[in-house]
Amino acid sequence: MTQPLHTENLLNRPLELPCGAIIKNRLMKSAMSDSLADGEGNPTQAQSRLYERWAEGGIGLSVVGEVQIDALFPENPGNLVLSEQSDIKELQALTSRAAINNAHIWLQLGHAGGLAYQPLSKPKGHQLFVLEISSVRGCLSKT
Ligand SMILES: Cc1cc2nc3c(=O)[nH]c(=O)nc-3n(C[C@H](O)[C@H](O)[C@H](O)COP(=O)(O)O)c2cc1C
Repeated sequence: MTQPLHTENLLNRPLELPCGAIIKNRLMKSAMSDSLADGEGNPTQAQSRLYERWAEGGIGLSVVGEVQIDALFPENPGNLVLSEQSDIKELQALTSRAAINNAHIWLQLGHAGGLAYQPLSKPKGHQLFVLEISSVRGCLSKT
């Protein structure tokens, strides 16, 4: 006789990645560009609170979408931007609040290139997103 599927147990099963990262369960928020940064590339209270709430709810992994590596080519004005001007304290606040209950928060690095937000930049390059999830790449390269 077939055994009943215990979905709750499956969702709660930890996932160990080749790089050693252990995601505590199978609940993940996919990369979504949330437009909640402050317009200068830094996190806002609303943004930190949102990720904190997902962590409070028991999520295993949240991926922040479209974190820009070049302030001149954002995908939209509410993107987080990593640069020498970044507000490290606010970024730390975001990551520590998002990581409560042993949740992970990962960044999807982005450069909008030819799709950069026109009012702020001169789109340049391919009309394609060139994106990579750095942590995932790090994990995969060790397989
Ligand atoms: C509002 C919104 C923003 C999104 N932003 C991104 C993004 O920044 N990067 C990305 O790779 N995918 C982005 N996506 C795609 C999602 O990560 C996801 O792959 C997509 O919604 C398909 O998942 P689904 O089949 O569960 O809807 C976005 C989706 C939505 C709805």
